Amino acid sequence: MVGLVRDAEKIARLRRQLLAWYACNRRDLPWRRSRDPYAIWVSEIMLQQTRVAVVVERYQTFLARFPTLLSLAAASEQDVLALWSGLGYYRRARMMLKAARFIAEQRLTGLPASSAALRKLPGIGVYTAAAIASIAFGEAVAVVDGNVERVLCRLEGWEFAEGASESALKREIHLLAAQLLDPAQPGDFNQATMELGATVCLPRNPRCLVCPLAADCRTKGEHATAPRAPMLSREGAHALSIRTRRAGQQVLLEQRPSSLTVMPGLWQLPELKQTEVPGHLLRMTVRHAIMQVNYYVRIRNVYEDELKSLTVAGGARRWVSLAEAAAMALTGLTRKVLTRAHLFEVRPREPLNESQS
Ligand code: ADE
Repeated sequence: MVGLVRDAEKIARLRRQLLAWYACNRRDLPWRRSRDPYAIWVSEIMLQQTRVAVVVERYQTFLARFPTLLSLAAASEQDVLALWSGLGYYRRARMMLKAARFIAEQRLTGLPASSAALRKLPGIGVYTAAAIASIAFGEAVAVVDGNVERVLCRLEGWEFAEGASESALKREIHLLAAQLLDPAQPGDFNQATMELGATVCLPRNPRCLVCPLAADCRTKGEHATAPRAPMLSREGAHALSIRTRRAGQQVLLEQRPSSLTVMPGLWQLPELKQTEVPGHLLRMTVRHAIMQVNYYVRIRNVYEDELKSLTVAGGARRWVSLAEAAAMALTGLTRKVLTRAHLFEVRPREPLNESQS
């Protein structure tokens, strides 16, 4: 591995070019208008595994409902999960609630102001602590996420390697990130590096022609990134049961048992065996991706009087109005099916133009 950038002039130039580029090209994202550590925390947790375009919309709804750390601390878990519905990785929401309650119980004035103290809170790891500390409190600590790793590896011509050398490479990346970080503007510098990775130094088709660091880049687009892990396939089956009452339509939902490791406590369409959705009863197949798994889920209609003859295992079941269902902590798949069935209003989506960040 080639040594780190040792040239002070080069470091100063990289900082200057990156920050100047960021000043002109940064996306106008709602959390960038705030200096409130709580709001920045919410955005960083949401951004961990979710695309920016999706987070923008959900972040604003979340903050409108829970505008302060204390309002979040006072919320029920089901209310928080309901607002998180569809964002996936529900553990993030549970951990955030736990951290907010901890802060409230300790009668602290707000989030702790250092990355070391932030890391002690539930759900806040090295990356998130560095992001909050640098953006909200101006601490000179470097953020390294997947985008930053890619930018720095390309800049230095380091190959992403699988296996034993990987942790050595990660250490080098962290050292380089710490060295490049502009201590005068750590929050902007970290966000600029992430932004470059998300909008210019893209995994497959990097836009080197508009990159502010191209002159100093060792690879200029000729750099392979780690291949995507192949997607796995799984099958599933669910019942769409709708009944009409005087007040309107109701849908049958079941709550996933709290003992499950995946999405405990969330509400879903009742689960069926594959054999209970034979071809002639199949109404639609929905593909739903969760991490590296593509779920191909078969959906059939089940009328109220058929319910007893089907397995419909799982936790507690409830008939709920469509309006109530829309506000519940539904799994992303359930929301998708009810939307495709035109039972929920469709929210217009913004075009996505950034990589996963
Ligand atoms: N990804 C995660 N946090 C980010 C931020 N603050 N700016 C840009 N990309 C990000």
